[in-house]
Amino acid sequence: MRPEKDSVPTTDNRLRTTDYGLRTTSSTDLLRSVPDLPDHEARRLLETATGRSWTDLLLGVEVAAEEIEVFRALVERRRSGEPLQYIEGSVPFGPIEVAVDPRVLVPRPETEQLYEIAEAVVEDPLVIVDLCTGSGNLAIALKHRFPTATVYATDISSDAVDLARENARDAGLDVTILLGDLFEPLPGNLRGRVDLIVSNPPYLAAAEVADLPVDVRDHEPTMALVAGPVGDEVLARIAEAAPDWLRPGGVVVCEISEFHGSVVAGHFASLRGDIQRDLSGKERFVIGAAPQ
Ligand SMILES: C[S@@+](CC[C@H](N)C(=O)[O-])C[C@H]1O[C@@H](n2cnc3c(N)ncnc32)[C@H](O)[C@@H]1O
Repeated sequence: MRPEKDSVPTTDNRLRTTDYGLRTTSSTDLLRSVPDLPDHEARRLLETATGRSWTDLLLGVEVAAEEIEVFRALVERRRSGEPLQYIEGSVPFGPIEVAVDPRVLVPRPETEQLYEIAEAVVEDPLVIVDLCTGSGNLAIALKHRFPTATVYATDISSDAVDLARENARDAGLDVTILLGDLFEPLPGNLRGRVDLIVSNPPYLAAAEVADLPVDVRDHEPTMALVAGPVGDEVLARIAEAAPDWLRPGGVVVCEISEFHGSVVAGHFASLRGDIQRDLSGKERFVIGAAPQ
C-alpha cells in the first residue's frame, strides 16, 4: 500500500510529501522561509545542512526531511546569536582553513590583513613566533607560506592550544604550539634568534565588553578579547619583551585597537613602532623592527 500522503501542516504549502512519505521542500522556498536572517547567512546554513553547493541550492533542488530538520536547528542556533562560523565549524584564513568553536576567537578579516603584512615584511624567515595563537590561524598560515621556517605559537588557554594543535595536524603542518603566558613557554635558546613575531592579542578594555554585539559578547571567549582595564596591557608586555627575542633586524607585527594607535606606538618606540591602517581606514597594526 502507498504510504499516507500529507500529514504536513497546511499552513506551509511549500512542504511536500514524497511517494515514500518523506516531506521535502525546494531549497529556494526554504531560504525564503527565514526572512529574519540575511540572505547570505541563510544560504550558508543551508549549505552546511545539506552539503550541497550554492549553485545547486539556487536551482531549487528538493531538500529531504532530515536535512530540513538540520537546517531548522542551525537557524535556531544562529537566531540565538551563535557566530555563523562556529555553526559552520571552520573558516578560511589566508591560504588555509581552520576549525573554530567556542574555545577560540573566530579569525577576523583584519587578522588576514595582519597575515598579509607579516608574510610580505620578511624574506625567508628561519624562526617565527605567534603569540596568543587561538585557533592557530596565523602560525599555521605562516608555516604554510614559509615551509622551511620553524614556527612556534603560544596561548594561555589550554582549550585554544588543543584546537590549534588539531588545526596544525589537520593541515599537515609542523607547528610547535605551547601552553603559557606570551613568551614564557618558548625555549630559552630562541632569545635573539626570532626573525618574525606576530600577534593578535586581546586588546579590549574590560568596560568595552558590555557594548559588544551579542555574537561576540555571549559566545566568544572573554579571555581572547579583554586585556585589562585599559586594553593595551598585553601589547605593552609584548613590546617590552620582544627586543629580547628578535634577531638584529627581526620584525614584530601586531594587531591593535583602533583607539590605541599612538599609545601602542609609544610602547614599541624602542623598535621604531609604526602604525598602519586596516582596509576600513582604522589604525589597526603596529610594525616594529629590532636594530641591525
Ligand atoms: C584575540 S584572540 C586571537 C586568536 C587568533 N590569534 C586570531 O587571530 O584569531 C587572543 C588569544 O590570546 C590568548 N591569550 C590571552 N592572554 C594571553 C597571554 N597572556 N599569553 C598567551 N595567550 C594569551 C587567548 O586565549 C586568545 O586565544
